[in-house]
Amino acid sequence: MNILLLGSGGREDALAWRLTQSPSCRTLIAAPGNPGIARWAECRAIDPCDAASVVRLAQAEAIDLVVIGPEAPLVAGVADTLRAARIAVFGPGASAARLEGSKGFAKDLCAAHGIPTAAYVRVERTAEALAALDRFAIPVVIKADGLAAGKGVTVAMSRAEAEAAIARAGDGPMVIEEFLEGEEASLFALVDGPRALLLASAQDHKRVGEGDTGPNTGGMGAYSPAPVLTPNLEARAMREIVEPTARAMAAAGTPFSGVLFAGLMLTKSGPKLIEYNVRFGDPECEAIMPRVEGDFTAMLHAVATGRIGDIGPRLSTDTTMVVVVAAKGYPGTPAAGGTIEGIDRAEAVDGVTVFHAGTAKHGDTLIASGGRVLAVTARGPWLGQARERAYAAVDEIRFADGFHRRDIGWRELERAL
Ligand code: AMP
Ligand code: GLY
Repeated sequence: MNILLLGSGGREDALAWRLTQSPSCRTLIAAPGNPGIARWAECRAIDPCDAASVVRLAQAEAIDLVVIGPEAPLVAGVADTLRAARIAVFGPGASAARLEGSKGFAKDLCAAHGIPTAAYVRVERTAEALAALDRFAIPVVIKADGLAAGKGVTVAMSRAEAEAAIARAGDGPMVIEEFLEGEEASLFALVDGPRALLLASAQDHKRVGEGDTGPNTGGMGAYSPAPVLTPNLEARAMREIVEPTARAMAAAGTPFSGVLFAGLMLTKSGPKLIEYNVRFGDPECEAIMPRVEGDFTAMLHAVATGRIGDIGPRLSTDTTMVVVVAAKGYPGTPAAGGTIEGIDRAEAVDGVTVFHAGTAKHGDTLIASGGRVLAVTARGPWLGQARERAYAAVDEIRFADGFHRRDIGWRELERAL
């Protein structure tokens, strides 16, 4: 098959790397791609949210399957335009992408179908939001409704902080919800209409600082699997959260197709949904791709063409760890243009692949062009081994304008002691 991959981050570099290893993949084109993706694919400078250009490219290149990496083109309905042109696509249409695009939509779906999640109210104006605060204990969580790249959520530790977050957000759709206590884990499932198959678990590190401190980011590192999500809890989350969601979306005439990423809080009373994403996580995807066995291209094609019954995803029992190297300043304004060296030496470490998240070429020099710059990914038979390899690789990289966390995987590593 000829595959077109939309996106330009570390997630898409990992997808490209994995797709091109599978026997069903003949050619891979990426739009727009990045210098890492260019190692495995031909990159074309096309905006993934420009549906008409994506369709033209797919038709001109006889594309058999389009794989959509990021949420923005999904929420914008690029998958709908492709399907209308009879092109197979891995990723949901705009109606199903509301599961991520609107927090209020996802919460109402949970409420209507008894899916465990934090108690909440939806409000439209700051006055309503302030009044609603009386109904919640502190801490309380304030969420802007739309896509916000992980920056639209405030976990307020005091009433004053909650009021400040509401004032900052201004009038507009918002969700106010109960604070859930527990450990977070991510569950990834392939979904084809009413049917869902478990793919993998992972744990992300969203805060910028060591010990999970400081502002939220897109993710500073991850590992997979997340053993805190035991087989029992995994089955329960599929049964109580993912499967009812797939059935509800299909019954509403807006079937989901693609990968559904459930962000879970493992509370004392069981797994509860924090949020849905309608695509692979970044950097969770970099952690999951090395573990996927079998013909990954064929797997995505089966989901895209309504044949999920034909596949049974198999994951290696190996553990992977991803350490994100970010540019100084992230998640604020990152330093741009810093030179990066040593990726070859890093990849010489056993089991290591360095995915590019935000890089560009300046002549022959690799430079930083984003907040998250590299996703250094290592595989090993157990987490401690993957960790050792990941940091040995990180230490080979020369990137003066960069920083990373040294404690990725700490919760699990502490448990293992
Ligand atoms: P979200 O963008 O919804 O994933 O929220 C970002 C982060 O905020 C999550 O990863 C959690 O750490 C935290 N968070 C969101 N909602 C809640 C909640 N109801 N209770 C506790 N923490 C939450
Ligand atoms: N790493 C979290 C996300 O991709 O949303």
